[in-house]
Amino acid sequence: MNMHVIGLGYVGLPVAVAFSELGNVVVGIDKNKEKIDLLQKCESTIAEAKLKDLLIKNINTKRLSFSTSLESIGKADVVTIAVDTPTISGRGGSVDLSYINTVVHDIANYLDGYTVIVIKSTVLPGTCKKIENLIKQLNPKASFDLVSIPEFLREGMAIHDIFEPDRIIIGVESQRAKNVLEKLYSPFKDKTKIFFTSRASAEMIKYASNSFLAMKITFINEISNLCEKRGCNVYDVAYAMGLDTRIGEKFLNPGPGFGGNCLPKDILALANFGKSTGSRLRLVESTIVANESRKKELAAKILHLVEEYKNPKVAFLGLSFKAGVDDCRSSPSTDIITELLDKNIDVCVYDPMAIDNSKKIFKSRVTYAVDVYNAVKDADLIAFGTECEDFKFLDWAKIGTLVRNKIIFDLRNIINSQEAKKNGFVCHIIGNSNI
Ligand SMILES: NC(=O)c1ccc[n+]([C@@H]2O[C@H](COP(=O)([O-])OP(=O)(O)OC[C@H]3O[C@@H](n4cnc5c(N)ncnc54)[C@H](O)[C@@H]3O)[C@@H](O)[C@H]2O)c1
Repeated sequence: MNMHVIGLGYVGLPVAVAFSELGNVVVGIDKNKEKIDLLQKCESTIAEAKLKDLLIKNINTKRLSFSTSLESIGKADVVTIAVDTPTISGRGGSVDLSYINTVVHDIANYLDGYTVIVIKSTVLPGTCKKIENLIKQLNPKASFDLVSIPEFLREGMAIHDIFEPDRIIIGVESQRAKNVLEKLYSPFKDKTKIFFTSRASAEMIKYASNSFLAMKITFINEISNLCEKRGCNVYDVAYAMGLDTRIGEKFLNPGPGFGGNCLPKDILALANFGKSTGSRLRLVESTIVANESRKKELAAKILHLVEEYKNPKVAFLGLSFKAGVDDCRSSPSTDIITELLDKNIDVCVYDPMAIDNSKKIFKSRVTYAVDVYNAVKDADLIAFGTECEDFKFLDWAKIGTLVRNKIIFDLRNIINSQEAKKNGFVCHIIGNSNI
């Protein structure tokens, strides 16, 4: 099939690459010329496991190409839109559809012959219907169906998740489009559940799923606070809860709160949607409040731990919203660091993958280190903000010779605390009052 993917970010690029690997001829389109130039040179623009090899392979077989131009849209059987849908700042969670609307205005007059337009960007129930009406208005002669196929991939695992999804949700209301999509998704039909539903339900499934995950994370974080106060070990509690198959073990890791490009904006959008529809989602609303408080509480704890020192210095390790990715958007680490900076704390940061993206946020407000040992020099406290594998295997004897004071605050329970303690460090670990 001929597929065009518009918007080559953390979703669109892996989708374009994966569908070319499945044998389709795919054109990836983005308005960012710099990005397209890099992709045309076989350079991946995001850090994703297995992406680069597949990118090179499929460019070489000529199944995959990149462009800033939409002119070839007329040749496409399927056009997938995967542009960003951020929250409009200061509008209580309203979804900014301007990127999608721009794409729709740009493509409407290029449509030629029957085309299935897939909305892969996360949008609220009813949006696909509105986009369909807009295209009909812009080009009344266009022959198309517009469907919703929300994306559930995890950053860092994008290629794996596209090839091995838990489920594929397709919101489609025309038999003709369904036939096209059954063909496109035929490689998945024996290995995963492909669930066909209405467009509005597909749109809602995405928001309900993300909000539920955010609630699960927030729930264990609140239990974690209680565990600290009452001498329980939250890791034992979470493990034992997860053994119950009705609950499940995933997303029960206590930490600094949820972040990233999806959960925070999607849960805010759903809460706002509930309010505006007159059907409030109080659990969802409370989750947002609890997650915001969590980051402030953790920053306050760090401030308390260093308050006795003059001009304290904090080494903050792990900046992305989770380990193994370079994405710092709405990262709990960056929010906590911002709180510290606002209190005039001297912060030196390190991350194995996300330093470049963190520079866009902090500019000259922090010092950037090239590795852990460089970051901890003269630190009064070392904070661990992501569950990066490297942090498990640190040389605590060496770190002990570099720091000014031996205090650790592990927000992810990632370090070898026994080793750190042997070398004289005082370890504070989320959810565990015994340490
Ligand atoms: N990041 C995730 O893990 C994830 C997971 C599931 C769903 N989603 C959803 O997928 C959508 C995309 O998210 P993302 O993280 O990939 O966003 P992103 O910001 O990483 O990428 C969006 C891309 O769209 C491009 N773009 C914007 N306007 C354009 C236009 N008019 N023409 C061509 N290109 C344009 C941008 O240049 C950018 O490269 C969002 O709705 C998001 O909520 C994201």
